[in-house]
Amino acid sequence: MTDSVNKITIALSKGRIFKETLPLLAAADIVPADDPEKSRKLILDTNHDDIKLLIIRATDVPTYVQFGAADLGVAGKDVLMEHGGEGLYEPLDLKIARCKLMTAGLVNPRPRINGHLRVATKFTRVAKRYFASRGEQVELIKLYGSMELGPVVGLSDLIVDVVDTGNTLKANGLIPVDHIADISSRLVVNKASMKMKHRRIATIIEQVRQAV
Ligand code: ATP
Ligand code: PRP
Repeated sequence: MTDSVNKITIALSKGRIFKETLPLLAAADIVPADDPEKSRKLILDTNHDDIKLLIIRATDVPTYVQFGAADLGVAGKDVLMEHGGEGLYEPLDLKIARCKLMTAGLVNPRPRINGHLRVATKFTRVAKRYFASRGEQVELIKLYGSMELGPVVGLSDLIVDVVDTGNTLKANGLIPVDHIADISSRLVVNKASMKMKHRRIATIIEQVRQAV
């Protein structure tokens, strides 16, 4: 559990989630003292002595909140689906960082000889569930980024990744194949924090809800 019952810690990732969450936090009167793009600090002060922001990898946000190292966090639904959501409440769809989780492949796929489809992705749990639900056996290859390269260099037949404009797929000669889920970022809350710091957290959720 984070510090004392009076302190609130919020986990965020740099980049689009931080930028798009700023106005929502401002609606709850929470304003960071530093810009994570300029500061090397991983814990940012805010205009409240007892509210801190943790700046971490997007993929790590559910883990920090699950274990109570952060009371609150903002994470993409893609990341939450992959994490599984254990130990978390997901009270609010912030409707930011919207995109789609999709499968994609080459415009002209090479013919497969025997064997299963190979799927490269950082979302291996999601992909496993998705293909199992369709009764398709696939070989999963775990990647940590630049998934679009997989089919181009023959590492995989398909990828599972988030798609927004489709520009990244197009620039690499890929086409979207199947839609897996609509994605947006969610406010997540540690279950124990929700009980122990209920009044403060409920106030923040309500103020952010009104701003969404
Ligand atoms: P990590 O650093 O942990 O690998 P990441 O690089 O995917 O994560 P971001 O690019 O900041 O982190 O993405 C954060 C979230 O924003 C994703 O989980 C997804 O929900 C959403 N997202 C990712 N790419 C796009 C996009 N092109 N347009 C809109 N939303 C996106
Ligand atoms: C994400 C994702 C795709 C891309 C999709 O990467 O992994 O590669 O965005 O967006 P598009 O459909 O609009 O091309 P990343 O976070 O690196 O992309 P960014 O350049 O949008 O930040």
